[in-house]
Amino acid sequence: MFFEISKNVYWVGVKDWNRRMFDALIPLPRGTSYNSYLIVGEKNVLVDTVNPGFEAELKNNVGSIVGLENLDYLVMNHAEPDHAGAIPYVMSLNGKVKLLTTLKGSKMAQTYYKVPPDRIVVVKNGDQLNLGGKTLKFIEAPMLHWPETMFTYLQEDKILFSCDFFGAHLAEGLFDDDVEDLPVFAQKYFGEIMMPFKVMGKAALEKLKNFEIKVIAPSHGPVYRNPNKILSLYEKWVAGATREKVVVVYASMWGSTESMAHLVSKTLMSEGINVVEYNLSYADLGDLIKDLVDARAVVLAAPTVLNGAHPLMVYFLYLFNALRPPAKYCIIFGSFGWAGGSVRQIKDAVGSNVEVLDVLEVNGRASDAELAKIVEAGKVLAKKVRGA
Ligand code: FEO
Repeated sequence: MFFEISKNVYWVGVKDWNRRMFDALIPLPRGTSYNSYLIVGEKNVLVDTVNPGFEAELKNNVGSIVGLENLDYLVMNHAEPDHAGAIPYVMSLNGKVKLLTTLKGSKMAQTYYKVPPDRIVVVKNGDQLNLGGKTLKFIEAPMLHWPETMFTYLQEDKILFSCDFFGAHLAEGLFDDDVEDLPVFAQKYFGEIMMPFKVMGKAALEKLKNFEIKVIAPSHGPVYRNPNKILSLYEKWVAGATREKVVVVYASMWGSTESMAHLVSKTLMSEGINVVEYNLSYADLGDLIKDLVDARAVVLAAPTVLNGAHPLMVYFLYLFNALRPPAKYCIIFGSFGWAGGSVRQIKDAVGSNVEVLDVLEVNGRASDAELAKIVEAGKVLAKKVRGA
């Protein structure tokens, strides 16, 4: 299977409809795709490859147009196996094809894929490659999301091959306008993969202002033939722009912490604040992370288990700190049976990443006085969220 995205430029990737997890971490409710692109001309170029296990499908797709043996260059924008895993296969079938990548990419290609150094051409930011009628430009975009990452720009067609940046884990959709809820999946993807690297994302968007972009061809999800919307969403996300929105995240064992979570949610909503509540027992991690991308505050609540926070909250806190969401404010509460410790652990874990406005730990179920304190904490948080 293949489809044309511009004259003599083809999508030749793979749709992985049934994959349900990525990195043993990220849920893929609607699969994903590994987008590989073929540029045909005096010189034939393959931009990125596919996940290991799909080599034959890639060979068939490219073979329907020119054949892997007729490639002159193979661009490796990123060394992660979902895009670079088929490089050894392609290079084993084609003894002359050269790999184009950054200096750091070159080292990774040698280490991970055993590509001999004499088959690698290192490219730097701003380098160009004349293909005869078409020109490739290389844009170094480090830490999006690995150290070696780069973009490739096809000058005549104004196509940006951005690899993971602007990606979405979706199998469906050839083009952006095919998928109604694509922005939701793009936001999930940004949160899961790019949110820790907002500063580098901002720098990359600045570089891209020097390029006219008609099409964005990422390595996961549909091709953007209307790139303005995703570009403006990324402008907001890399800037850490937030909305009047609070994510309430909790774990509960016997319902005490849950009833406090519901109460603070109701208080916030009564104050006109948009709330999204997640019970960690069955929250979809992708949905939760998506909501952290633009939430202005979080509420973290968990009971004590063996002198510390419930393990589901401990797991969440690790991700929360690693993903660096832009939330500015936080309130923390929890309950305990015979000895506390949960709220202290949560407060220590969030450190100075957010301003902690209130902390409350109750023994058993919250008393009327404690419930009143939670309502008050919710009102204070609402004021902060509105005022920011
Ligand atoms: Fe889609 Fe970082 O690989």
